[in-house]
Parts: sequence; structure tokens; C-alpha cells
Amino acid sequence: MSSSSSSRTLKIGIIGFGPFGQFLSKTMVKQGHTITATSRSDHSHLSTDLGVSFYRDMDEFFEADNDVIMLCNSILSLSQVVKSMPFHLLKHPTLFVDVLSVKEHPKQLLLEVLPQESDLLCTHPMFGPESGKDGWKDLNFMYDRVRIRDEAVCSSFLQIFGSEGCKMLEMTCEEHDKMAARSQFLTHTIGRALSEMNIESTPIDTKTFQTLVNLKESTMRDSFDLFSGLFIHNKFAQQELKNLEAALDKVKQKLLDRTNKELDPSVSNNR
Ligand SMILES: NC(=O)c1ccc[n+]([C@@H]2O[C@H](COP(=O)([O-])OP(=O)(O)OC[C@H]3O[C@@H](n4cnc5c(N)ncnc54)[C@H](OP(=O)(O)O)[C@@H]3O)[C@@H](O)[C@H]2O)c1
Repeated sequence: MSSSSSSRTLKIGIIGFGPFGQFLSKTMVKQGHTITATSRSDHSHLSTDLGVSFYRDMDEFFEADNDVIMLCNSILSLSQVVKSMPFHLLKHPTLFVDVLSVKEHPKQLLLEVLPQESDLLCTHPMFGPESGKDGWKDLNFMYDRVRIRDEAVCSSFLQIFGSEGCKMLEMTCEEHDKMAARSQFLTHTIGRALSEMNIESTPIDTKTFQTLVNLKESTMRDSFDLFSGLFIHNKFAQQELKNLEAALDKVKQKLLDRTNKELDPSVSNNR
């Protein structure tokens, strides 16, 4: 690990080299960090293009002497991935970071399985390959320093996002999940519902309708695994889905009540 006054270049190993892992690796490589990756599928060709060393074998990946191991696999695969991790091959205390879009679930699971000497930083970059394609300035980055003893490595990792201009937001994993159920999960649910309705641009779009089409398109770019993970592994999501259904019923009822009044000749229309 080479050092400078405030941050160091790190050796970062990425587990799960799908769309989001690839996206993050580009900026990390650009900043001078050394990136290795492993994944269920063989992404070795693409990795070479990105300047990332790819290991097909998890044991070799763990032996690669990383400062940081960053979990970037799907939410649904976390318990399976964690079971396949050969912690005994780690050569020194390592900072584990996860970037999953739910936070209590990885925190609890990782605290159960990580070696005592390994640090844990739970994070959620609140952006993706689309919203972050023109840079990360002013985009939100949530983090919870769950178990940190090596301050230098942790702050160098956080600096990757801070130095790109992200808005760094420290909070607990539980606080994150509560808010994300009302924001991100709701956004994805409405986007998916709009997709089920096959909404498309029309020649007479309003600007507001265009935002709905954009919402549908951007949520459908994320995998269904990701969306299901937001629901299955965030304990607050089920209630928000119920709230959404109840709200839709309320709106519908208000419209029906008004329709009945309008159509009932015994009720005055001057209200
Ligand atoms: N996309 C975003 O905008 C965004 C933003 C913030 C956080 N995140 C989080 O980042 C993570 C990755 O997201 P993503 O967009 O790349 O898509 P994703 O569909 O959530 O995850 C894809 C990744 O999970 C791996 N994976 C899936 N099933 C697996 C299994 N059964 N065993 C082992 N690995 C498995 C895939 O490996 P292979 O590619 O090798 O098949 C791939 O690396 C997720 O936890 C997501 O919540 C995503």
C-alpha cells in the first residue's frame, strides 16, 4: 500500500463483477487503485479491457493480498457468496466493504462470518451506471462504519467517493433501510408498475409524463434480482408496499365519491 498525506492507493478485490462492480471499478482504476475481481461468471475479457485482474478461482482471489474486499454481488446471492469465501486464506486483517442496496442484511450476515480481526464498512452508493455516468459529483453515498480499527484504510476507501464529489452521509444501516424503503424501493415499485402497464411516450407528452417514462426506463435497467432484494431483505419494504396499495385505494375511493356526487342530481354542484 503506497501512502500520501491524506489517502493511499489501495489494493481492492471485488466479489461480483456485474454491472455495478464494473462501473465502480472504472473510477477506482482511474484513481490509481489496483483492482482485482472474481465473480460467478467469467468476466475475464471485459476485466482486461478495464485494467482489472480477474480470478476465476476464489481461493486465488483471497490469496491476492488485498487491503479491501468489496462485495458487489446481488442481494439475493449474499448468503451463498459468503459461504464460498475462504477466510482462512487471508494474509492479514482486511477491510470488508459491501455496497448492497439494503444494509441491515449484509451487516448482520457479515458480522456473523467475518474473522474477528477483519473490519467492516457497510455502504450504499445511491447511484448507478446510468445516474453516475457523467461523474459522481453531488450524488449521495451512505456509509456505516460498523467495525473499524484501521482508520487509514477505511478513510482511504471513503476518499474514493469523497474525492469524486459525492455527498458523504454517515448513518446506521437501520436508518438507511427505513429511508430507502420509502424512497428507493417505492421508486422501483412504481417504475415496475408503470412497465407492467406498458406506458410509452406519446406525441402529446407533458413534461411530467416524460418523467414517468424515464422512471420506468431507469428502473427496468436494473435486474429483477436487485428489485426483489430490495423487498425481501429490507424489513421496512413490506409496510411501504401496503402503504402504496392503501394510498392507491384511497385515491380511487376519493374519485368514486366525487363521481357519485357529480352524477347525483340531489347534490348541489356548487361546492
Ligand atoms: N446497479 C446499481 O445502480 C446499484 C447501485 C448501488 C448498489 N448496487 C448493489 O450492487 C450489487 C450489484 O448490483 P448489479 O447492478 O451489478 O446487479 P445485481 O443483479 O444486483 O447483481 C449482479 C451481480 O451478482 C452476482 N450474482 C448473482 N447471482 C449470483 C449467485 N447466485 N452467486 C454468485 N453471484 C451471483 C452476479 O455475478 P455474475 O455477473 O458473475 O453472474 C453479478 O456480479 C447489488 O447488491 C446491488 O444492490 C447496485
